[in-house]
Amino acid sequence: MMTHEIPPPTDQLTAFSLSNDEEASSSTTLSRPDSGAELTDQKIQSHRWVRTGTTEQGKETFSITVVNGGSSSSANLQVMFDDSSVPNLSELAAVTIDDVDGCLKIPLHGKGTKYKIQLSVEKVTDDEETPPPSDQLAAVSSRHVPVKSILCRPDGGAGLAGQKVRIFGWVRTGRLQGKGTFAFLEVNDGSCPAFLQVIVDASLSTDLSKLIAKGTCVVVDGCLKLPPQGTKQKIELKVEEVVAVGTVDQATYPFPKNKPSLEHLRKYLHLRARTNSIASVARIRSALAFATHSFFQSQSFLYVNTPIITTSDCEGAGEMFQVTTLISSTEKLERDLLQNPPPTEADVEAARLVVKERGEAVATLKAAKAASEQEITASLAELANAKLSLARTVERSRLKPGLPKKDGGVDYSQDFFGRQAFLSVSGQLQLESYACALGSVYTFGPTFRAENSHTSRHLAEFWMVEPELALADLEEDMDCAEEYVRYMCKWLLDNCYDDLEVMAKNVDEGCIERLKLVASTPFVRVTYTDAIELLKKAVAQRQKFENYVEWGIDLASEHERYLTEVVFQKPVIVYNYPKGIKAFYMRVNDDGKTVAAMDVLVPKVGELIGGSQREERYGVLMSRLEEMGLPVEPYEWYLDLRRHGTVKHSGFGLGFERMVLFATGMDNIRDVIPFPRYPGRADL
Ligand code: 4AD
Ligand code: MG
Repeated sequence: MMTHEIPPPTDQLTAFSLSNDEEASSSTTLSRPDSGAELTDQKIQSHRWVRTGTTEQGKETFSITVVNGGSSSSANLQVMFDDSSVPNLSELAAVTIDDVDGCLKIPLHGKGTKYKIQLSVEKVTDDEETPPPSDQLAAVSSRHVPVKSILCRPDGGAGLAGQKVRIFGWVRTGRLQGKGTFAFLEVNDGSCPAFLQVIVDASLSTDLSKLIAKGTCVVVDGCLKLPPQGTKQKIELKVEEVVAVGTVDQATYPFPKNKPSLEHLRKYLHLRARTNSIASVARIRSALAFATHSFFQSQSFLYVNTPIITTSDCEGAGEMFQVTTLISSTEKLERDLLQNPPPTEADVEAARLVVKERGEAVATLKAAKAASEQEITASLAELANAKLSLARTVERSRLKPGLPKKDGGVDYSQDFFGRQAFLSVSGQLQLESYACALGSVYTFGPTFRAENSHTSRHLAEFWMVEPELALADLEEDMDCAEEYVRYMCKWLLDNCYDDLEVMAKNVDEGCIERLKLVASTPFVRVTYTDAIELLKKAVAQRQKFENYVEWGIDLASEHERYLTEVVFQKPVIVYNYPKGIKAFYMRVNDDGKTVAAMDVLVPKVGELIGGSQREERYGVLMSRLEEMGLPVEPYEWYLDLRRHGTVKHSGFGLGFERMVLFATGMDNIRDVIPFPRYPGRADL
């Protein structure tokens, strides 16, 4: 039998530190079978975060959590500092250090040393000392430079004066100056909210007036120069060549001037990304997606793609869009039958008669001794043709207009998948099957709900982030949800401040403060029963709600927003809901009345997250399906997860557009997804 020999760990480290190609990072050091022991005397570079510190025999030792440019290891590398490498040893425990260069050493095996390798520091680069921005602009493949890399530097681009660049973008405002001898254009290329001021001399263009129209696309080569003192720009571009121009048909351009309303923009989904607010929303949305992957990957969750077409109704609510080819194939058939009417009974009889005659002809030939081999073969071929024609006639005579029927209903065995299929309302059930094999996992994909909601919080197609936490109970589920939301808020404050400022200026002045609040305050946790009591108390104090408040109701959006915006004024997690209003898969609590469900409610939006601990007990799950009148057959595979190797697990779903709403302060969910789908609308 073949055995697979595991090669010894290589003693060469693969470098992936962005800042220095020759050196390896410390997360590759520790994630080896030998925990790095064989790497002694190699030079490495380590990044980020002093975690804990202790003093040892006149030397300071610190353990460092290592994070390398987004990819991370939770292992700690022990790092030895002494006064020659670090001047202020005592301050190190509290601060972040950017880079540590050093040499790997086998630790002296004193009492309690658990490390196989440690890093003896030779040099520390302090975070404070950020190097000055490079004066080299990175041109992208088509040789143009993103406006962001000019304007979003600490010096606003001033240090780049004198450099030649190609930029492109769309004119946001343009004006002729010097009696039409030159034009000032404010150009935006979508890489950041800022505009680059571009100056074009009349000698470079056949018609300057065409360039200044809002929406015109320009590709220009030029030289960056410092503007005259007293102007707000730090740098501007003096054009040397107009490379290309995409003019605007001003008679039909839908947003020529002024600030178009968001409703007006919704009629032009294909053009609205050229406006400031929608462009900022798009960049914030992209950053939130990146933050999502960064958060779950850094916690070692596995990214799983769950199906979009499914045969299971996850929420059991029947709000699914059906996926079928039966309708189009029926329509095609009906058109075909109109053009070529199906054969009648008489046609079938005639075809049968032909077969009979040809059969008899063959028999006669075979009986006649004089018939040649050739004659018999030809006659047999005619018989075969007649049989084929009969089969086709019979088949076509059975064709009927309308959907195929069976047992009084539609015959889905004739549909594309041989059974009824739908667009997924949630990837949770399939995700659970991976969580019950691979540990904690997450999915991030589109989901579809055919609910006829016309609210500013509902879409028919929306994106959901769904983690499934192995071995976690409801409390750990809530911890994860809280940490994740906080992480995204911090991420935006760290990475998208300029876009947040656009939102604060144009849409909701409180949006930055709200993000800061959420990033820094623990969420309130309250049981459903207590939440109902709080709402009843509010009603007693003359608070008006459209929906009646009593134990057992599904909280309406007005209740959720009252709890988070008025009562607590911060995010709230409501948990332990009545089982009657929640899905079949949620774990039944010991009281028999409630389930281990939780919803995260945030100001401005209401419900942002819905999650639960899953029912892992086969018997209880089975009775929940029955109790809720759901058919067992489609869930047999899901029950298998409980029949074989069942285990405690929990998860949640975050409505991605609701998160974008919350972060941007937009009022309508239709403005935070590029191409919104809702009842009556699916443009483009
Ligand atoms: O609360 P929901 O229905 O939970 C689930 O689907 C679970 N299977 C998730 C899980 O445990 N893995 O939906 C989750 C979130 C809601 O909290 C809400 O933010 C969002 O999805 N959501 C919608 N967003 C936009 N439009 C709609 N029609 C939405 N329905 C739900
Ligand atoms: Mg929900």
